[in-house]
Amino acid sequence: MGKQALGFDFGTSNCTVSIFDSDKGVVETLPISNYSESKKRSLANQSLFPSKVGLNDDFEYVFGDETKKCERDFVWDNSKRLLEHNTPIYRGGVHKKPIWVAIGIMAGIFKELKNLSVKTSSPMVITVPANSYSTQRSLTRLAAESFSFNVDQLVSEPCAAALGCYEYIDKLKHILIVDVGGGTTDIALIENDFGTLKEIAIEGLKRFGGINIDQKMYEKYKVDFELSTDSEKLLFRDLLEDVKIELSSKKKSKLIYKDQVVEITRESVEKLIKKDIESLDKTIDKVLKKGKVEIKNIEAVLPIGGSSNIPAIREHLKKKFKSRLINLDFDESITAVAKGAGIASAINAKIIKDLNFKQCLEHSVGLRIWSGTKENKIFKPMLEKGSVFPASAVQTFIADTDESIVALYESTSGKLISNDTKLIIEKRIKTGVMHVDVELTYDDDGKIDIKTYNINRGEWGKLGDLGDSSKDSQSYIKNLRSKSREQGMNLRIDSINYIDSQLNQKKLKEWSNEFLGKYKKYKKVSEKVKSIFSKEVKDEFISVNNEDLSNVVVEISSEAEFGSTNDAFMYAEGVLKRTLRIVFSIAGYEKKGHFKSIHDLLSECDVVYKTRQKLLPEQPLDDIRWLIKVLQRSRYLTNLGHINTDELRSDLDSLRTILNKYSHGVRSSFFSEVFNDSLDEYDSLIESNILDEVYKESKYSAQDVVLISSNIASLISSLINTKVYIGTDRDNLIKMLESMYTLVQTYKE
Ligand SMILES: Nc1ncnc2c1ncn2[C@@H]1O[C@H](COP(=O)(O)OP(=O)(O)OP(=O)(O)O)[C@@H](O)[C@H]1O
Ligand SMILES: [Mg+2]
Repeated sequence: MGKQALGFDFGTSNCTVSIFDSDKGVVETLPISNYSESKKRSLANQSLFPSKVGLNDDFEYVFGDETKKCERDFVWDNSKRLLEHNTPIYRGGVHKKPIWVAIGIMAGIFKELKNLSVKTSSPMVITVPANSYSTQRSLTRLAAESFSFNVDQLVSEPCAAALGCYEYIDKLKHILIVDVGGGTTDIALIENDFGTLKEIAIEGLKRFGGINIDQKMYEKYKVDFELSTDSEKLLFRDLLEDVKIELSSKKKSKLIYKDQVVEITRESVEKLIKKDIESLDKTIDKVLKKGKVEIKNIEAVLPIGGSSNIPAIREHLKKKFKSRLINLDFDESITAVAKGAGIASAINAKIIKDLNFKQCLEHSVGLRIWSGTKENKIFKPMLEKGSVFPASAVQTFIADTDESIVALYESTSGKLISNDTKLIIEKRIKTGVMHVDVELTYDDDGKIDIKTYNINRGEWGKLGDLGDSSKDSQSYIKNLRSKSREQGMNLRIDSINYIDSQLNQKKLKEWSNEFLGKYKKYKKVSEKVKSIFSKEVKDEFISVNNEDLSNVVVEISSEAEFGSTNDAFMYAEGVLKRTLRIVFSIAGYEKKGHFKSIHDLLSECDVVYKTRQKLLPEQPLDDIRWLIKVLQRSRYLTNLGHINTDELRSDLDSLRTILNKYSHGVRSSFFSEVFNDSLDEYDSLIESNILDEVYKESKYSAQDVVLISSNIASLISSLINTKVYIGTDRDNLIKMLESMYTLVQTYKE
């Protein structure tokens, strides 16, 4: 067997993997698609794997299109762009780190590759958006490495796209890549220097991609439909995406939601994105200007990414570039990046020898140092946007306090004073009164290495002025540097601690194992519990025997393996939510209007509630925060009278106590102004910082999980015993009870 190299396009909407086999001498995409619908499955040679991970009703993780079977708000998707600022993603009542989602998606891919008997240890190139910060690059790499993928290099998406379409640009010099994907749009000017592809200028449009178009359509059409829950909103958006895709080949399409039908025309969607196409146009001009290439000298334009198939975008490019627009078909446009990644990987592995590529830095990197002297506080540019990888630079400063703070910043605009400047690392270092050199290396895949060298002032004094450039001084300095290297600081920015102090290799490995089903923590116990319930379920009116269940708890807890308690808490909350949904619908609360009356009732009784009312989401039945609130006030709910037994009341009381703990502690932050709708505007930096704080606090102990699970369990069993719930409702409650007991057992010591 020949040598193999893998390429991985980790996309916002789809992942695609390619392989270059030295025996075959060509790059091919791998059939990893798991779409159940055959039309979708056959797209692009079965190579599109939806970037999604979900939790099904049996508490098992499922991936890609299998997430269709999960409750919609237990599906984590669109996480890629949240990696940029490490912003948590909110679903099913909890926040998850974007790298957790990335690991989940990669678990799905890993399984598919294993099914295809692909050697996953072959060298792999993973693509990242052109202007991604080092945080995103590092998190992507860490996620892949948790599956022992052999990540050889991270390559920017436009560069990979050009390699993937090499047959079209073989003899051409100036090529423009227009990649309109799911999450972002990248425009890149590439120079083909006799087989070496070099990025000359790149700009990204962070707010334009398929998801943003879906969002715009959602804003326009949501008003005609009754969408109260997160789940409904997400599903509605999925339907709109299908309509949008259909509108690329048809002039009209129908949106069918529940029993409503709306006709949507291509023209109406084009209106929505008119402004975006204008910004796309401006960005193209900006890239050409920066690359100092006139529009007439562009020899080929490659439309890349799923959304580049939108007729209005193609037409615009056609008008601007005439016959130089290469009319890539859908398959070519959507797989170019993955194929290029495979080619890049084969170049690195020396399987391909007559092709090469060079990437450039997508942001300037600057340094700030605090060491007592005022002038040290200003930015010192180190690496300019556009420098070719690997790049390195040295800056010297004079420390006049014992300790200095060295901080590195990245700026996508290239101007280190502008507000897009992002801190990548800040480190306090012991300097003493001396000269310190900060040496920065930004290597091929954007890994940043900083070394600081302390040079004793006395020694330095012998050299005279700092700017002395005589040969002797230079070699003396060099000597000093090498001597001081051992004492110097060695910081690696890609090191996990600098990205997120809550992450560590052990946790990442644990997550990847969990997604691969290696910890069957819930499975074993859940089967035992189920066997008990199967007896009970036969007779509709037999009560659940709590004692039987407690026995299982004791019997099996010693064998249970532990996963992360946060996950368990999430399950518990999910079950609580479903329980409440049954309770409320039985009590006649189903429609928005019903909840409005509870709202009114609550605000009459509670001043605090009244003032916060406007900050709460629009009474979505699915929203755990809101339901908890209602539950806490459940004594006001006269409509629940028929289940208002003494027993139930006491269960509700204890449940209320535990829920209070969460809503007044961690969860209170969710009630602040920032979170009016968890689905919108979720990637702002401010939110990311706040959520970070929240996440830090939300470390539930095993005991917390046991407490909330057993409270929910006893609430559910009281509900079952009221005999108000029969048929499917009863079955559902029993199912939930099973899972709660599974949790209690797993986490009970
Ligand atoms: N025929 C089509 N017409 C319009 N849009 C489409 C079509 N096919 C797919 N899309 C949209 O393209 C997007 C997916 O494209 P693609 O797979 O290139 O994105 P990605 O690589 O996952 O995202 P990114 O590169 O931004 O990370 C989705 O938003 C999808 O709705
Ligand atoms: Mg893409």
